Amino acid sequence: MNRSFFIKTYGCQMNEYDSEKLNDLLKFSGYEQTSNFENSDIAILNTCHIREKASEKLYSDLGRLSAFKENKKKIGKKMHIIVTGCVAQAEGDEILKRNKSVDFVFGPQNFHELPKILKKKKAKKIHNNFLYEEKFKSFSLSSEKNVSKLITIQEGCDKFCSFCVVPYTRGKEFSRTVEDIYAEARSLVENGAKEIIMLGQNVSSYKSSVIKSGKDQNVFLGELCRILSKIDGLKRIRYLTSHPIDINEELIDEHKQNTKLMPFLHLPIQSGSNKILKSMNRKHTREFYLGLIKKIKGKVKNMAFSSDFIVGYPGESDNDFEETLDLIEKVKFASSYSFKYSARPGTPSSIKKCIDDNIANKRLKKIQQTLNAQQREFNISFLSDTVEVLFSNKGKKNNQFVGRTPHLQPVHVFSKENIIGKILRVKIERLTSFSFHGNLIT
Ligand code: SAH
Ligand code: SF4
Ligand code: F3S
Repeated sequence: MNRSFFIKTYGCQMNEYDSEKLNDLLKFSGYEQTSNFENSDIAILNTCHIREKASEKLYSDLGRLSAFKENKKKIGKKMHIIVTGCVAQAEGDEILKRNKSVDFVFGPQNFHELPKILKKKKAKKIHNNFLYEEKFKSFSLSSEKNVSKLITIQEGCDKFCSFCVVPYTRGKEFSRTVEDIYAEARSLVENGAKEIIMLGQNVSSYKSSVIKSGKDQNVFLGELCRILSKIDGLKRIRYLTSHPIDINEELIDEHKQNTKLMPFLHLPIQSGSNKILKSMNRKHTREFYLGLIKKIKGKVKNMAFSSDFIVGYPGESDNDFEETLDLIEKVKFASSYSFKYSARPGTPSSIKKCIDDNIANKRLKKIQQTLNAQQREFNISFLSDTVEVLFSNKGKKNNQFVGRTPHLQPVHVFSKENIIGKILRVKIERLTSFSFHGNLIT
């Protein structure tokens, strides 16, 4: 029997994409996927380092896994424990020191080496070079068929926000070639995908050169969207995450002209206070952000926005926090994520004095209430409207299907016919929590 493997994925969609590729890589190398973590021959943890809680999860899972490994040893069976992803890149030595049962540590740009390493009797324990090109070259066509598929188009970050580990865990910015992305998108569509979500730490700084009329010319995100939208059968294009300073006119115009490009922009700001933005090294002010939102709304009427916020950043006063709430009030976000600041080892802000934890917790609660209320308000404005929904999954109930609107809101309907993969018009009847229920318009 082939050796079995299981991957547990933590963190962002870039990790989800990596895990999918790692799955395929191992399957094509003759390993068998299993849904039973504890009994697998190869247990892989694809980790996230963004906040302390995310990293600590790895160490508690490793504790459990090593006990399983020991038990297997007693009955003469082997288990490999492998750690990959951003914690692996950031603290490979620490992982091996804290848990002796870990066999290999692979950074996110090295996991393509795994099948080769597993076949060797003796191998290096830590692999953490930034081998972007080799990584993407090793990717085969995706074996998992879904209506909505992720494609990493760019990795790494050169922005160095002072709280963030990403520039250290994912390395310098790297953009995949247009040809590579186009080929992957086309094969996904041939295999049933209707929607492509382009991923990157900063997709808006995507840049790759192609030869046009005999000359080398750069392609940026707007043009990449235009190129991909020519793929027959592809119905929707999305991208995330963008940095405000990289959004250019070409991309905004593309949103205006390209009906396949969805009117939804995830545009993290982190704070509404200029003092905090400066200390975070975000490279933009609140006025710049508000001006950008105004400009985009002026050109693309139905555009909706989401964002990320950090509360309790070192030095954040009541007044700074009020400025964040004021900015939220001005923009009116469709949805957003908010986090309590977590000091990360090696980042410039980690040496700054943290604010009182109780105050940070109170602010987090307040911002989450405010953002939830805004999301509800945004959703309520769609009640009784007719919207186009791309159906991607079965619902929990009999004959129930779930899809998403152009603004990413989940919609539940009933249908006797299988409607997965179709874009259909739905009259929105009800809103429960954050999802809609409606009727198909025939
Ligand atoms: N590239 C994106 C997002 C990167 S990480 C951007 O530029 O915004 C996703 C989110 O995690 C960030 O937007 C930020 O809100 C949050 N985050 C990053 N580092 C953090 C930290 N040290 N503590 C709390 N939240 C953090
Ligand atoms: Fe992190 Fe800032 Fe880069 Fe986003 S832009 S990944 S928050 S350093
Ligand atoms: Fe986490 Fe790495 Fe993504 S730190 S958020 S898995 S880029």
